[in-house]
Amino acid sequence: MAVFNLKINGRAYRADVDPDTPLLWVLRDSFGLVGTKYGCGIAQCGACTVHVDGEATRSCVLPVSAVATAKITTIEGLSPTGDHPVQRAWNEIDVPQCGYCQAGQIMTAAALLKRNPTPSQADIDATMSGNICRCGTYHRIREAVSVAARMTPTVKTKK
Ligand code: FES
Ligand code: FES
Repeated sequence: MAVFNLKINGRAYRADVDPDTPLLWVLRDSFGLVGTKYGCGIAQCGACTVHVDGEATRSCVLPVSAVATAKITTIEGLSPTGDHPVQRAWNEIDVPQCGYCQAGQIMTAAALLKRNPTPSQADIDATMSGNICRCGTYHRIREAVSVAARMTPTVKTKK
């Protein structure tokens, strides 16, 4: 066992766990951040995707010891008010069916748009094809990523 002081969603968290424990289980079991889901456990489905220093990362195969100094973002921290452009686009297109895979889908899409704000359809397909949805919402996912890319942040101006 070892103590890790982790930075998650802008907050400090402390965990006393085996260094090999996958980040996914630390998030869920130690901290109650259960928006990140377990699907396959072998980095094949994307349900467990979080951001590690801004990169979409599969937390089911990532030992907590590898992220001790990293900035971690989970679906709970993507936007404090749930209005990240990807989340707004997901609502607009009504993407989810059962919902199980959707946190991973959203985190993958958000990381894509951060590094490439104007992705082509091929970019979207290449990135999102690694995330499995057993309900088959793929068409709506791809449409929603395009909608999110077109959304401009709301700019408040003072008069
Ligand atoms: S649970 Fe991590 S990729 Fe499937
Ligand atoms: S919405 Fe059910 S698995 Fe994707």
